[in-house]
Amino acid sequence: MAKKTKTLSISERPRRNRKSEAVRRLIRETDVNVGNLVLPMFVVPGKGKKVAIPSMPDYFKYSVDLLVKEVKEAYALGIPAVALFPSLPESVKDKRATESKNAKGLLQTAVKAIKDRVPEMCVITDVAMDPYSSDGHDGFVKDNKILNDETLPILADMAVSQAKAGADMVAPSDMMDGRVGYIREALDQNGFTDVGILSYAAKYCSAFYGPFRDALESAPRGGDKKTYQMDPANAQEALREVRLDIAEGADIVMVKPAVPYLDIIRSVKESVDVPVAAYHVSGEYAMIKAAAQKGWLNEQDVVQETLLSIKRAGADIIFTYCAKMYASARAR
Ligand code: PBG
Repeated sequence: MAKKTKTLSISERPRRNRKSEAVRRLIRETDVNVGNLVLPMFVVPGKGKKVAIPSMPDYFKYSVDLLVKEVKEAYALGIPAVALFPSLPESVKDKRATESKNAKGLLQTAVKAIKDRVPEMCVITDVAMDPYSSDGHDGFVKDNKILNDETLPILADMAVSQAKAGADMVAPSDMMDGRVGYIREALDQNGFTDVGILSYAAKYCSAFYGPFRDALESAPRGGDKKTYQMDPANAQEALREVRLDIAEGADIVMVKPAVPYLDIIRSVKESVDVPVAAYHVSGEYAMIKAAAQKGWLNEQDVVQETLLSIKRAGADIIFTYCAKMYASARAR
């Protein structure tokens, strides 16, 4: 006969610490603050434009006037930073991404408008050639090769132009060797010692960027990004990449994508003394949205759990298309 439950002796009962919402709250280890979120935003030319992105349901590209409104809303919700990406017509793209240093270009105009109308918002700009490149690569292409050292001056000009427009931080996402140091020097020489560098240090060659490339029509026209973005199989190499970027002057290092690379976030967090960011990318957003639209997942709950996981893994900062969704749910 089984023993009476009364006499059952279990020395440790972890369930005691879960018995009520109050106790659960009391012992909770991790919390995602809206203050640690970055909202990525896509900007298009024109006025009064709000353009849907088919592979990113409920996400839009905005012309500068509407973008500013969105930024205002985001700031009011407590989101302290936005990351901007320009969506440009093929007609302005060329091999050397010349448009990227145009002081009156779309990105520069957007940065100025935000700093003018919502000056408190931290504006982060992406440094890479792909939205401007007729080859759809992050670097300069010659004979089907992505040339490292030829790309660096283009990136430096781009970063300086973004700083001139008012960017608070530039975020090199190109994965060329030596670019952080090269950009730091260019910024300093132009008097932008206060402009920070958030480097996409451990950026993997990931299939999860698909929807982003749809949004910007920036997919490589030939080949892939495997000679510069990291092999998803490698963990050790991430530590090398962050070590080099920090030595070259990175103020914040990023791991990208986020959820499939939680192990990398953790090991990077344990190896550096600068803040660690993680990018919950377009494909990760698309998966949640698609399942939610089918009624297969509860969107709010999954977003909450996902961001929590990224934070728990060690990210101090999270770039996520869910930032506004999360912040509004929090505000309610
Ligand atoms: C461009 C860049 C990419 C992303 C951010 N910056 C795409 C790429 O490297 O192909 C992806 C972001 C996302 O998927 O949400 N260098």
